[in-house]
Amino acid sequence: GAIPATLIPGDGIGPEITRAVVAILEALGAPFTWDVQQGGLAGIEAHGDPLPGVTLDSIRRTRLALKGPLTTPVGGGFRSVNVRLREEFGLYANLRPAKSMVPGGRYEDIDLVIVRENIEGLYVAFEHYIPIEGDPHAVAISSGVNTRAGSRRILEYAFDYAVKHGRKKVTVVHKANVLKALTGIFLETAKEVAPRYAGRVEWDDRIVDACAMQLVLDPWRFDVIVTTNLFGDILSDQAAGLIGGLGMAPGANIGADAAIFEAVHGSAPDIAGKGIANPLAMLLAAGLMLEHVGRQPLAARLRVAVDRALNGDGIRTRDLGGSASTMDFAEAVIRRLPEA
Ligand code: NAI
Ligand code: MG
Repeated sequence: GAIPATLIPGDGIGPEITRAVVAILEALGAPFTWDVQQGGLAGIEAHGDPLPGVTLDSIRRTRLALKGPLTTPVGGGFRSVNVRLREEFGLYANLRPAKSMVPGGRYEDIDLVIVRENIEGLYVAFEHYIPIEGDPHAVAISSGVNTRAGSRRILEYAFDYAVKHGRKKVTVVHKANVLKALTGIFLETAKEVAPRYAGRVEWDDRIVDACAMQLVLDPWRFDVIVTTNLFGDILSDQAAGLIGGLGMAPGANIGADAAIFEAVHGSAPDIAGKGIANPLAMLLAAGLMLEHVGRQPLAARLRVAVDRALNGDGIRTRDLGGSASTMDFAEAVIRRLPEA
């Protein structure tokens, strides 16, 4: 049956890559019926708010959204749209798969997934300064918050994800040797959660700095990485770098009340309106969305067509060294969709 979903084209290259992605999904026979709503600068233009009430209402209804990149307005006192969405819908899991798609980069055959806790940790931003002798910013203080319940929820999400996707190992990343309370609770909770998955998925733990080094030296040793908010923010961008950058990095924000899928990159104002942006990251995000709603066969057919276009016939946008336009690439994928 049809699945209602909210579509936010976004700013800059957003509308261009959205058009390409929607055309491919239509050709694929994806089940989504789109409720198109605005966000970012387009939201301010239409409704005076980068996250308009009608857009929030739509997501409340559909609980499912595909979102283009939003330009963060400078000044005007608007809070980050992404933070507002995370809070509003309790989007506690940020899923960032990093899979090599085009050979010839620095690394080949990377296939790992980072599961980042998206709400707690140091990003709660309990921050203040203490003035000393006329310097108002003499001392900066920040407190992080990690809860047992929040740690358990993201760890269970990561282990369940590993089981469901046939992944072999979960690596729990922390800094419990120094941040004994803040990240010790995460490791301690992992020791309680992991044994319940014994025989289905292996696990180990690693200190974040050692993990960062090993991601560069030997990324193939990792499968699923689960970690707290700040470490996950950093390691997931590092992982995107391993596979050749932003053009191929999708992300999913998943919570109890909704799931929102997007490319990791921004609105790329430097190339907006030229029809040359790579729609692949948003397309891969749509693939994650298909898996999220249980349409694995459609997601698999999409991956086959993308691989045929990129690698079989070398059809690539400029950021990947090719000359295809956004719509050239979309049409190439459409022509290479395998039969159902
Ligand atoms: P950006 O990711 O938009 O661009 C960085 C560089 O990558 C640029 O040279 C751009 O041309 C290139 N690039 C990005 N996506 C591409 C694509 N699909 N195909 C080809 N090239 C691509 O990052 P930047 O410039 O720092 O941010 C621009 C705006 O986007 C800012 O307002 C920022 O706040 C916003 N942003 C929004 C995000 C979101 O809504 N999730 C995430 C990151 C940034
Ligand atoms: Mg980040």
